[in-house]
Amino acid sequence: MPVQIVIGAQWGDEGKGKIIDVLSEKMDLVIRYQGGANAGHTVYVGDKKYVLHLIPSGILRENVQCIIGGGVVLDPQAFIEELDILSKAGINYTDRLFISPRTHIIFPYHKKLDAQSESSKGKKSIGTTGRGIGPAYADKYGRHGIRAIDLLNLDSLKIKIEDNLKFKNFVLEKFYNAEPESLEKTLDFAKEYASKLKPYIKETLSLIHSYQKEDKPILVEGAQGALLDIDYGSFPYVTSSHPVAGGAFIGSGIAPVKSEITGVLKAYLTRVGNGPFPTELDDQIGEDLRKCGHEYGATTGRPRRCGWLDMVAARYSAQVNGLTNIALTKLDVLSGFDTIKVCTSYKYKHEELEWIPADENIFSAVEPVYKTFKGWNRPVDTCTSFSDLPDETKEYIAFIEESLEIPVKYISVGQRRDQIIQK
Ligand code: GDP
Ligand code: IMO
Ligand code: MG
Repeated sequence: MPVQIVIGAQWGDEGKGKIIDVLSEKMDLVIRYQGGANAGHTVYVGDKKYVLHLIPSGILRENVQCIIGGGVVLDPQAFIEELDILSKAGINYTDRLFISPRTHIIFPYHKKLDAQSESSKGKKSIGTTGRGIGPAYADKYGRHGIRAIDLLNLDSLKIKIEDNLKFKNFVLEKFYNAEPESLEKTLDFAKEYASKLKPYIKETLSLIHSYQKEDKPILVEGAQGALLDIDYGSFPYVTSSHPVAGGAFIGSGIAPVKSEITGVLKAYLTRVGNGPFPTELDDQIGEDLRKCGHEYGATTGRPRRCGWLDMVAARYSAQVNGLTNIALTKLDVLSGFDTIKVCTSYKYKHEELEWIPADENIFSAVEPVYKTFKGWNRPVDTCTSFSDLPDETKEYIAFIEESLEIPVKYISVGQRRDQIIQK
């Protein structure tokens, strides 16, 4: 059975949580493979809203096993807070939620370094979520990060923390002119969360491989989006991990195998944080999109930047990720707009570009070339089949399929589980 990979095809917040929750109904195992508590995946079960930051969105289906993969950077405090919310909501996660021993741990000093790095950049700041993501991945690749498995040996953990803090405090004090982190407090934090996390740390690779051997359905959950990928995104305005589909194998521990790769694509476009955004609308239409789509960050509450769908970016994403199909979300939000625009290429000086430029200066300067569609004037949130949709909506979907050369398999027309059309 092919592995089901679900990734964000844009700059994040495409509605991955909702799509993963819908697909999880038929899954036995859901693995989150990268990022950390910078993510915010919203799922509605009836009227109850859940925002999952670290825990796989499959947790809301009681028969699904969930793994936080080795590619994730885990903030222990955020993890325990999320568990508390699930407990209070009556979600039972006992014996079905595991943390890979290879998952790197975020300490308070990572968050402090994230904040200092951002404020030192001034106008050139990335606009991070402040969750310590960049500094934690830097430690991992610098080979001095602390992993979940290290929490199980308090003696060697103490030495690792002492070694790390020596360097972090040097940077905090001497480079950033900031307060150092207390060794005692960091050790207390480590001890407290080591005992809280211990029940969840388990060799997850053997579990994954046994599911594969038995041909059980597995879903691999991406966070962020392809355009935030550290290698293929709009560098340096990116996150520090690999949201692209290739990252799914490395971050989960599944060997590259036949897979269905679903790219979640919002029917328009949003971005939080800084960096190029050619189709951004600083006008009333942008405001309307934000208002109708409730475009405020699920993690930081920041207003999301809004604009028209960018097919240059979507085509790039389809190719970089090898998408096999699309889950198109938030189509209902576009109801009522007289005309809807889609960017088909970029203009740069006298050139027409059909590809995202690697050069951030060029990417920031391109102008979108638009194709205009007639809007649909009736709500689509109660449509339950493709044939129910207005002709104009069908045309919009057909255009997306033709330009990406892949099918739109799922169409989401609202927040709820049942507001989904399988095409
Ligand atoms: P994620 O990070 O990709 O999981 O997306 P977020 O949860 O950050 O943001 C997506 C928002 O859109 C959430 O509030 C979802 O409840 C909501 N949403 C998802 N699909 C749809 C849809 O088809 N229509 C509408 N109106 N809202 C949706
Ligand atoms: P989900 O999974 C949207 C953005 C931040 C910032 C950049 C780097 O909910 O789609 P970081 O804190 O990762 O170092 O910030 O990445 N960012 C997201 N934008 N959705 C997300 O996650 C994001 N996670 C990080 O706003 O621009
Ligand atoms: Mg989100």
